[in-house]
Amino acid sequence: MGYRFPESFLWGGAVAANQVEGAYDIGSKGLSTSDLTPQGLLGPIVERTPGDACIKDVAIDFYHRFAQDIALFAEMGFTVLRTSIAWSRIFPDGDEAEPNEDGLAFYDRLFDEMAKHRIQPLVTLSHYEMPYSLVKKHGGWGNRYTIDCFERYATTVFKRYRHKVKYWLTFNEINMSLHEPFTGVGLPRDSSRQQIYQAIHHQLVASAKAVKACHDIIPDAKIGNMLLGGILYPLTCKPADVMKCLMQNREWQFFGDVQVRGAYPSYMGRTLKDLGITLDISEEDLHALKETVDFVSFSYYMSGCSSADENEIAKARGNILDLIPNPYLQSSEWGWQIDPEGLRYLLNVLYDRYQKPLFIVENGLGAKDKLEADGSINDDYRIQYLNDHLVQVAEALEDGVEVLGYTSWGPIDLVSASKAEMSKRYGFIYVDRDDKGCGSLERRRKKSFYWYTDIIKSKGEQLRSVAEE
Ligand code: BG6
Repeated sequence: MGYRFPESFLWGGAVAANQVEGAYDIGSKGLSTSDLTPQGLLGPIVERTPGDACIKDVAIDFYHRFAQDIALFAEMGFTVLRTSIAWSRIFPDGDEAEPNEDGLAFYDRLFDEMAKHRIQPLVTLSHYEMPYSLVKKHGGWGNRYTIDCFERYATTVFKRYRHKVKYWLTFNEINMSLHEPFTGVGLPRDSSRQQIYQAIHHQLVASAKAVKACHDIIPDAKIGNMLLGGILYPLTCKPADVMKCLMQNREWQFFGDVQVRGAYPSYMGRTLKDLGITLDISEEDLHALKETVDFVSFSYYMSGCSSADENEIAKARGNILDLIPNPYLQSSEWGWQIDPEGLRYLLNVLYDRYQKPLFIVENGLGAKDKLEADGSINDDYRIQYLNDHLVQVAEALEDGVEVLGYTSWGPIDLVSASKAEMSKRYGFIYVDRDDKGCGSLERRRKKSFYWYTDIIKSKGEQLRSVAEE
């Protein structure tokens, strides 16, 4: 006991269009890159042929059931809900002259429903998807053409929802492209570093242009970036490990440095040179990048370690972020290392670096839940995980870090991004659907549903500190 979060702190949850909506071909929606990874972003990329089914096609059918789900979020006391707009609902091919009214009308209904419950939307413009046609015909973010298409899309939704949405994010986990270029920037997975960094450059320019458009069109809105907060510790205090760790942290900090400071950081000169990369950067790009974000948001699930030792590096191969395991931490069923203190550490690192308000827009535990015979789901492990992380957020607030809010990932069970599983559940709300797509889609409150309700209601006072456990 003893924690009290600020009155203005936003409490809620976060989902993404392609992991909840389903309705992948309804309302004249175009195919998105997410529709081509039916087994998740770690699975193969497959061209769709008629009749192919994929779990994401229906997902949790949020497209048709959002009113019921938002009512459940409201019951927990949410004041914010993070979701994304599927770009290919608005511009099915990505580059039409006019937007698709069906898609626009869907998000009107969604935001209106949130407003009924006084839940603020926090909207990501692009969460791990883009219109596939832009990839197929134009080479995705490898082509400057995509910058103009994105700017048109962003401008369209800012104008349409300017009275309804006051919190925006540009690209979800923008640094992920270094690890998964198809999902991040619409490039083949065997693309060279030169191609990937060029595409990233285009995306950073597009992000800055969207920030400018948001500032112009909705002056009272706030727009942030979104980083995968993969903080690394040196595996040992050997100076070579410490230096390697500094360099590896810069791989993701680079994105934030550009988006917050408005220019490439000086260390990138050497990084690019060492990689043999020469980027095509115009004067106009440099000018565009100067428009910087209002706040910094990030996801946080785990930390990792960094080492200069080749044997240690070899051990990490095969896991998508190349994280070397920390011998002092336990892992989730999916091998993600659980490190609540890492969240306080990361909040402090980001605040020291940027002096901008921070927003934790993803955090949670993916776990297998057991539906008991009486219909209950006793997810104490999830409560423990979230409690311990929120305690560290409270500590960071005490440290003087400015935190706007917290949206736990997947407040309702959804399709996992990496492997398109339903069995990796994050929710406070259980959804009756399995990995094969069987189930009634019925919603059910888990034990954590009541726990989160109490936490929000008490503004954090119900959190248990480590000393109390
Ligand atoms: C983040 C993504 O990386 O992690 C989400 O922004 C994703 O889209 C989340 O769902 C958890 O990953 P996964 O693979 O367990 O769904």
